[in-house]
Amino acid sequence: MSLGKQSQPHSQSSSPMLFSLQGSLLTLAIFTLLSFIYFSLNSVHFSSSPTIHISADTNEQFSDIYHSPEVFRLNFAEMEAKFKVYIYPDGDPKTYYQTPRKLTGKYASEGYFFQNIRESRFRTDDPDQAHLFFIPISCHKMRGKNTTYDEMTVIVRDYVESLIFKYPYWNRTLGADHFFVTCHDVGVRATEGFPLLVKNSIRVVCSPSYDVGFIPHKDVALPQVLQPFALPAGGNDVENSNIIKLL
Ligand SMILES: *[C@@H]1O[C@H](CO)[C@@H](O)[C@H](O)[C@H]1NC(C)=O
Ligand SMILES: *[C@@H]1O[C@H](CO)[C@@H](O)[C@H](O)[C@H]1NC(C)=O
Repeated sequence: MSLGKQSQPHSQSSSPMLFSLQGSLLTLAIFTLLSFIYFSLNSVHFSSSPTIHISADTNEQFSDIYHSPEVFRLNFAEMEAKFKVYIYPDGDPKTYYQTPRKLTGKYASEGYFFQNIRESRFRTDDPDQAHLFFIPISCHKMRGKNTTYDEMTVIVRDYVESLIFKYPYWNRTLGADHFFVTCHDVGVRATEGFPLLVKNSIRVVCSPSYDVGFIPHKDVALPQVLQPFALPAGGNDVENSNIIKLL
């Protein structure tokens, strides 16, 4: 305000055209400043309010990860309430649909995945309720039976094609709402010869290397199991143990 009053006498002595030019420049400057303050306050308001909500919900670590932690929290809650997975019921129980008896070794993630999803509250027996369809094929179970990768690929292909012919669900999305799990080289090598599955469906994969044709927009990384006693005892690796606690 004082700025406007100071400049007025000077403007009055100038020509009308200069006065209007200076006036509009001043108006513009004030408007820019006001909008700057407004947006600054706004962004302060936006960045502080979700943090309060989230920390009340003991999820304050989310605030650093997500652009809109509150939106994420609501979506997550809705997912917890509604998300459903249908598991195809058929298949050779010796080969596919069997939780390994011992959940140990480097393939344990695959076994745990099978066991957990079959006992999960997200599981539904009604395919009409399902958002995702689990193809219960465990390539790990084909190991130790003198089966070559090519033969495994044939088994996988025959099985998935039998599901495609028998059920209407695959054709609705060309398998985009289907997923399967593979661990290590066996699963990767056994399925890569069947691109219809690998390229369309969500692959939950744990692998010792990055050379597995991982497709980031749809594939999901599954953590591996490290056998604690097969390796020499480690030291006090504080950093890693904190990461493990977070996981
Ligand atoms: C494994 O299969 C190969 C070829 O199919 C065969 O020559 C070999 O004898 C088999 N080994 C065992 C232990 O069955
Ligand atoms: C799905 O599509 C394939 C290829 O077009 C077809 O052969 C198959 O019969 C379809 N499955 C069903 C259940 O209609």
